[in-house]
Amino acid sequence: MEKLYFGSATDNPELTDAQYCTLLSNTKEFGQITPGNSMKWDATEGTRNTFTFAKDEAILALAERNGQKVRGHTLVWHSQLPISNGGFDNATLISIMENHITEVVKKWKGRILHWDVLNEIFNEDGTWRSSVFYNTIGEAFPGIAFRAARAADPSAKLYINDYNIDGTGAKSTAMYNLVKKLLAEGVPVDGIGVQAHLIVGNVPSTMQNNWARFASLGVDIAITELGIRMTFPADAAGLSQQADDYKNVATACINVPRCIGISRFHPYKYSWIPAIFPGQGAALPWDEDMVVKPAYAAIAGAL
Ligand code: XIL
Repeated sequence: MEKLYFGSATDNPELTDAQYCTLLSNTKEFGQITPGNSMKWDATEGTRNTFTFAKDEAILALAERNGQKVRGHTLVWHSQLPISNGGFDNATLISIMENHITEVVKKWKGRILHWDVLNEIFNEDGTWRSSVFYNTIGEAFPGIAFRAARAADPSAKLYINDYNIDGTGAKSTAMYNLVKKLLAEGVPVDGIGVQAHLIVGNVPSTMQNNWARFASLGVDIAITELGIRMTFPADAAGLSQQADDYKNVATACINVPRCIGISRFHPYKYSWIPAIFPGQGAALPWDEDMVVKPAYAAIAGAL
């Protein structure tokens, strides 16, 4: 069993922020780092079969200096994907996908503990999301992707990651069924990544049951992108509710033995949330000035 960690996503531009880097490098706070953007397809293979790794190296160097685990994010995703317009036949796209996975995973072999091999492949109703991968390769693409990743780094733990699979529901059931099927076919899936982009006061009460159900398949669970957002600016009632919500997430993870850790996504002023959900934010246990909020003590109390 892996030791439970608390981790953070980070991105290259903010690495010049000394106050932020001091907090990020404090291993009493963070035992794990996820590059927020620099390992995505558009960052690593902007032009077909030309690979660039300088940005990832900067984040890996920071994590390794601090002795922090690294989660690779992400190999196969419909977004930030230069080849998303398609126009390939089945065999060509399989070879492009396998080549991407092989080159990126091989590059960081032995240095990435967990890989998000697949990201966000389901619709909310549990059907397959339309993507160049699904539309061209069909239901075979997940198995092909996982096998390529395992071949490129046999020691990395391989994950399928998604949002809105926090509590039970159609999308969670689709995830459960697919992982069950892949495992039955001998596909090397080691874990399910639960992004956990949550909303204050609206955190599902079924998280623990849902994660236990995932774990019953024999895979690990990682909470990969936790944030619990609210209308900005935060008020006292919101902060107090947020503390309860964070405590519930931490408790659910602790109560599911195969839940291996919790990562928060993109902190403070660097957050992606206000751009995607206007007027919302304040999603993390630290405020914009990096001062701890009530949620911090609530998490600590749950551990
Ligand atoms: C977001 C990044 O944080 C942004 O900087 C970028 O513009 C878009 O992607 N789910 C994921 C992440 O798996 O990769 C996304 O990251 C946020 C939602």
